[in-house]
Amino acid sequence: MVGDVQTDDLKDIMKLWLDNESTMSNLDSSFVRVSSALSGVWNALFGQTRANARLNAIASYDQSNELFKAFLSKDMMYSCALWGEEEGGVRGDLLLPPNQASHALESAQLRKIHHVLQKARVRPGSRILEFGSGWGSLAIEAARSFGCEVDTLTLSVEQKKLADERIMRAGLQHQVRVHLMDYRELPAHFEKAFDAFVSIEMLEHVGSKYYDTYFRVVDWALKSKDATVVISSSTFPESRYSGYQLTHDASQRRFTLDGVENHSAHYPRTLREWDRRLEANLDPSLLAKDFPDLMTDKAAYESFKKKWRYLFAYAGAGFAKGYITCHMLTFIRERDMPASCD
Ligand SMILES: C[S@@+](CC[C@H](N)C(=O)[O-])C[C@H]1O[C@@H](n2cnc3c(N)ncnc32)[C@H](O)[C@@H]1O
Repeated sequence: MVGDVQTDDLKDIMKLWLDNESTMSNLDSSFVRVSSALSGVWNALFGQTRANARLNAIASYDQSNELFKAFLSKDMMYSCALWGEEEGGVRGDLLLPPNQASHALESAQLRKIHHVLQKARVRPGSRILEFGSGWGSLAIEAARSFGCEVDTLTLSVEQKKLADERIMRAGLQHQVRVHLMDYRELPAHFEKAFDAFVSIEMLEHVGSKYYDTYFRVVDWALKSKDATVVISSSTFPESRYSGYQLTHDASQRRFTLDGVENHSAHYPRTLREWDRRLEANLDPSLLAKDFPDLMTDKAAYESFKKKWRYLFAYAGAGFAKGYITCHMLTFIRERDMPASCD
């Protein structure tokens, strides 16, 4: 990370490492130290068992809105996009001339939001509960394009601040409320108040120990009839860790599993787009407020930027190799009908 290793193709190195990971755990090498540092970064963003959710969110998301603006799409979705034919599919960026793909991330993220809301079967006037607001993208779109009312939760002060500004700018403050709140602290008036629950890549922060609590809270907040649940999360393949089994146990007797979609193939391109944008847009001056030291210390700035690029390459290789997966689960109430069929 500080010049020990040089490569022109970071992702191929990561793939080599993943292919040999099982035989490398006893090695004492700088490579192993780098890989464990990367695992730490990975856990901060995608990890399963972080005990202190609030500290975790603060470490990850309160770093700097300017940093996230530099690499995310304009809407600031911080999760896997869904690539369609319009953007050339999951490898479109590798095949299309760069200028043709310049707004592709925005349209692929919008497709993902619409897909989630359609799966949640929301209608004008539906009340949505969301865990994991990010910077408010899904909540804003649900209110603006679907006419819904949304209560959305984040632990990040910086996310709430920017999400509130964006909601005000869109004139949606009467439809969307961002709560700085842990999912275990919902107010009493949320009981049986919601038609739909959505959560995009927040379950990673919950930890399997709390899956039962998580589903109990969702069950408590959703109406007893015609309620839907859409959860997407990065997951481990069942051969290594049966995360799906755990969510299944926790959702049992509360909801019926209605659908499972594998979005893993869509993550590598999302990460490549974030990497390209970070490389093109990040500048020390953008970090002046949140990381003043990086303004004057060029080596520290380069190392900071490299850590993010390592994370994108590491995660991209993980998804491309099936070492990590990304699934979307849809649930309905036990006696409710699957999507209209007569
Ligand atoms: C990877 S971001 C995803 C954000 C957004 N759903 C998106 O797709 O852009 C995870 C989000 O989960 C929130 N979060 C993490 N732990 C939480 C908790 N215990 N209670 C409520 N929100 C939490 C974070 O604050 C952050 O907004």
